[in-house]
Amino acid sequence: MITQIKKAKDCIDECASLILRGELVVFPTETVYGLGANAFDEHAVAKIFKAKGRPQDNPLIVHISSLKEVDEIAVDVPDVFYKLAELYMPGPLTVILKKSDKIPYAVTAGGETVGVRMPDNEYARALIAASRPLAAPSANRSKHISPTSAMHVYEDLKGEVAVIMDGGECRVGIESTVLDLTSDTPTILRPGAVTAEMLLDVLGEVSVNGRVIKIAKAPGMKYTHYAPVVETVCAVSIESAVAKYDELIKMGRRPVIVARDIYRDKVVDREQISLGITAEDYTHNIYNALHLAEKQYDFIIIEELHGGGLEASVMNRVEKAAGGKRV
Ligand code: TXA
Ligand code: MG
Repeated sequence: MITQIKKAKDCIDECASLILRGELVVFPTETVYGLGANAFDEHAVAKIFKAKGRPQDNPLIVHISSLKEVDEIAVDVPDVFYKLAELYMPGPLTVILKKSDKIPYAVTAGGETVGVRMPDNEYARALIAASRPLAAPSANRSKHISPTSAMHVYEDLKGEVAVIMDGGECRVGIESTVLDLTSDTPTILRPGAVTAEMLLDVLGEVSVNGRVIKIAKAPGMKYTHYAPVVETVCAVSIESAVAKYDELIKMGRRPVIVARDIYRDKVVDREQISLGITAEDYTHNIYNALHLAEKQYDFIIIEELHGGGLEASVMNRVEKAAGGKRV
């Protein structure tokens, strides 16, 4: 087979037809490149193991383009999955759930669980949306280093796949965090860019390397602290902040959006309080902004940050201010 490298944006339809015909396609993600096949077609999935020389007992992750696809792939999905999805999907997080009957055992290596991940790459999601959810491992020969460019893939898998979608270098550069939600305690099976610290806020406890980490139930950990006197919510994106704002205006309320400067253009003509530019600015300004806001408005909508480290720390306070409420 001749392997061609094509610009990702130019070959989505062609690659979608390959997938629907049961063939393999290499696609870019934000972590590493993936070698994908229709996750519902066991014959197509078998080709992945052959092309990579992968042992049959190593399960594959199923890649989705939208949360609607989860119902076809998994059953008994816990609420906490959707909370994590709100924060980290699309993104470098794979969540292990109970598999549905539609997912062949070829994908799960005979097991009853399945990994689900929504890659943060527009070409990957466009391909999936135009075809089917994709079972895909990293697009390297088994045991070799994972590929972060189309050329890495070509060197490893030349002759094994018709098209490599070239989406440039992978932004993250290491494989996704794998989090098992089917065990008693949520367990990180593989660490990645979504850290234990980032997962803890949602999960409360997480097991990593055989150790269980918990959020300390220190005084002040309840949502009643740090709260402004007026209703407050967290907005998962600036778009949802603006939508909530407009809805409140129609109801005759006096809302305000508290967000970073970068969103000035999106917030236009609506009441806003700036938090500055960086995560440091945000941290520095948040309490002052909440003080100001509760004096002048009757509803506060705060932009949510999705990062770790300092961003996670400031979000800890924002979550409390919002009493855990999100829009
Ligand atoms: O970032 C990534 O996750 C990349 C891109 C392409 O999405 N994919 C990737 O796939 O790294 P792979 O197959 O190279 O690694 C998947 C890891 C393996 O260690 C596998 O054992 C584990 O996830 N895994 C997959 N499904 C599982 C399941 N149902 N239970 C436990 N572990 C699972
Ligand atoms: Mg791999």
